[in-house]
Amino acid sequence: MNKGEQEAYKRDYALAKAQGKPFFPYAVYKDLVVATFAIGFVIFLAIWAPIPVGEPVNPATTDFVPRPEWYFFFLFELLKIFKNENALTPVIMATFIVPNVLMVLLLITPFIDRGPERRIWRRPIALTSGVMVIFFLGYLTHLGAESPGAETGIELENLTPEAEAGLELYLANGCTACHAIKDVGAPGPGPNLTNEGEKGRTIQWQIDHLIDPRSTTPGSTMPAYPNFTDQEYQELAVFLNGLGTEFR
Ligand code: HEC
Repeated sequence: MNKGEQEAYKRDYALAKAQGKPFFPYAVYKDLVVATFAIGFVIFLAIWAPIPVGEPVNPATTDFVPRPEWYFFFLFELLKIFKNENALTPVIMATFIVPNVLMVLLLITPFIDRGPERRIWRRPIALTSGVMVIFFLGYLTHLGAESPGAETGIELENLTPEAEAGLELYLANGCTACHAIKDVGAPGPGPNLTNEGEKGRTIQWQIDHLIDPRSTTPGSTMPAYPNFTDQEYQELAVFLNGLGTEFR
């Protein structure tokens, strides 16, 4: 900037400062121009160099195990803490009751703690609870990151070839979307099948249940699997009935 430009700038600046510039339209106009360029640039990038959102959707997939993004791992793990016969209880506890109780506690903190002290080390209760919440969230996130998904496979000992085939069918037909065996698969809505063999079902019972769950379990919400071959039903049933007894 040379001398003349400098003078001109100072003159404009002094004038603007003396007179003031109205917010409308002056500031609004400037914001509008900059925002248009910024958003336009983002739109341009989105068209010119699009970044795909993960794997393309495959509606025919059968072995997909739903797993949340990493920042939801703590909620995902919280679900597993509340184990209950009723599949809804963990969901209500972990996604509604616990988070909301904590939020309400946070909101009423200023009304409970009326002390004038602001130095954090003079507020041991606030300090300890704050650190504990952060630690607990971190710990649950770590557990969630470590917890195995279907891709690690289900490790079971003593599988016979027939049961091995049953396991393959189990993995290939989306059973993991509702059931878990040894923490692999979804925590619900179906029951954990790790010890299914201990229930003492017969092979025929398992086959009937697969063909039409409501025939053996009135009111069941499990989908029917009427299209396996006789051999496949046999393999699945042998696999299921050995879980927790022969195969662990
Ligand atoms: C959409 C969710 C869903 C899918 C998918 C699903 N199930 Fe289920 N399953 C359930 C529910 C809910 C129950 C509990 C009600 C019942 O027993 O029928 C259940 C129960 C079971 C039981 C326990 C029966 C008992 O009482 O001993 C077995 C075994 C089972 N499922 C096997 C399978 C197999 C094998 C597959 C895949 C071929 C599968 N499930 C797919 C939801 C599902």
